[in-house]
Amino acid sequence: MTNQESLQHPRFARTYLKIAREADRRGGAEHRRRLLDGLTGRVLEVGAGQGRNFRHYPDTVDHVVALEPDETLRTAAEQAAATAPVPMTVRAGHAGELPGEDGEFDAVVYSLVLCSVGDPAAALAEAARVLRPGGRLRFYEHVRSPRRWAALLEDAVTPLWRRAAGGCHPNRDTEAAIRAAGFTIDHVDRFGFSFSPLAPDTTHIIGSATRP
Ligand SMILES: C[S@@+](CC[C@H](N)C(=O)[O-])C[C@H]1O[C@@H](n2cnc3c(N)ncnc32)[C@H](O)[C@@H]1O
Repeated sequence: MTNQESLQHPRFARTYLKIAREADRRGGAEHRRRLLDGLTGRVLEVGAGQGRNFRHYPDTVDHVVALEPDETLRTAAEQAAATAPVPMTVRAGHAGELPGEDGEFDAVVYSLVLCSVGDPAAALAEAARVLRPGGRLRFYEHVRSPRRWAALLEDAVTPLWRRAAGGCHPNRDTEAAIRAAGFTIDHVDRFGFSFSPLAPDTTHIIGSATRP
């Protein structure tokens, strides 16, 4: 069962602070800008990490509630929120139990998070609950390779990788999970990206979907 305590990964969090900075230098910052482009109104970002997305929110957004369960990352997110271009509230919490009334948000953002949540289907059902009718799900995720052998390799490394990397599964078909949750995919870009010169290219997706 997911709770705040089971989502504390201080060693991974300290490593991720550096990894994400390097990934953003290698093109991740532009991915984040594309992820958030055109958003409006009230936005909920789930698993915001240290807030690498915050500086990329367009000024058409009225307010962002950023949820982060890990204390180390949340402390860094609070600092990032102080200089964000739009009003932000950073809160403790997790994907399985989102803050907010039914239909309260215009958009929900997942950025490199659906690989790590314990139950993606339950998380996506919660996202659908807090979105208004016609609200948007924006996602930026690394996903299972479309190449058979690469996908089998991802399956093989997943048990070890998830222990080392804060619960991350490199082998999830997140686009299929979003469709299975009843969302309509409006657009999705699929591309290879490597977060470090030492890491292999893995398949990433950036896209938008509309609430069921
Ligand atoms: C790879 S980091 C991505 C952080 C940030 N979203 C970004 O784009 O850099 C994965 C994030 O998912 C968060 N996370 C893991 N399980 C979660 C859950 N069940 N609910 C919410 N966030 C979760 C972690 O605490 C971490 O911040």
